[in-house]
Amino acid sequence: MNRINIRAEQHTDYQQVYKVHQKAFGQEEEGQIVERIRKSGGFVPELSLVAEIDGAVVGHILFSKITIETKQGDKESLSLAPMAVLPDFQKQGIGGQMIKAGIQKAVELGFDSIIVLGHADYYPNFGFEKASKWKITCSFEVPDEAFMAIELKEDALANSAGKVVYPPAFNIE
Ligand SMILES: CC(C)(COP(=O)(O)OP(=O)(O)OC[C@H]1O[C@@H](n2cnc3c(N)ncnc32)[C@H](O)[C@@H]1OP(=O)(O)O)[C@@H](O)C(=O)NCCC(=O)NCCS
Repeated sequence: MNRINIRAEQHTDYQQVYKVHQKAFGQEEEGQIVERIRKSGGFVPELSLVAEIDGAVVGHILFSKITIETKQGDKESLSLAPMAVLPDFQKQGIGGQMIKAGIQKAVELGFDSIIVLGHADYYPNFGFEKASKWKITCSFEVPDEAFMAIELKEDALANSAGKVVYPPAFNIE
């Protein structure tokens, strides 16, 4: 799998990235969310990564800024969402490589933590744990095991008990 190149997304990738989400999710919603997040204040261009094989984009992962509202005030975190790998390229470790590359970049950029809502048997492979461990809740109802977080610095989520609020770009509420 060393043919895979994980790199920051460029403007010229936008169309292929949309198609990756469309094919992986079988619907338009996630590609549209990506487009809205890119135009929002939470967008971090270095944390929009593509997986490329022979010049073709086969995967995309996006980390963008979100807020944990705590009693001590707002804490900045990152949301991992959405991510997708083209169906023909799934279960070959590409998703995992994108997550690891994204975590590494987020550490380099100095972010404290990442929150993800998703497959409860997948993200723990990369160090995510239930967000409820830190008494972090979601502003809408989610299954406890599907709402996860990872600390990028030691004890970064200590004293972060609070509620994650997704920006309007996610079109959740
Ligand atoms: C979720 C998604 C992004 C994962 O991407 P992926 O490239 O298939 O992910 P990986 O290959 O890293 O891991 C998938 C599984 O393949 C396994 N796997 C990894 N490398 C492998 C290899 N070389 N050979 C065989 N299996 C492998 C992993 O163990 C994992 O299994 P697990 O869930 O039992 O741990 C992809 O399936 C997808 O696009 N799904 C549709 C959209 C979606 O659900 N997005 C996420 C929303 S939360």
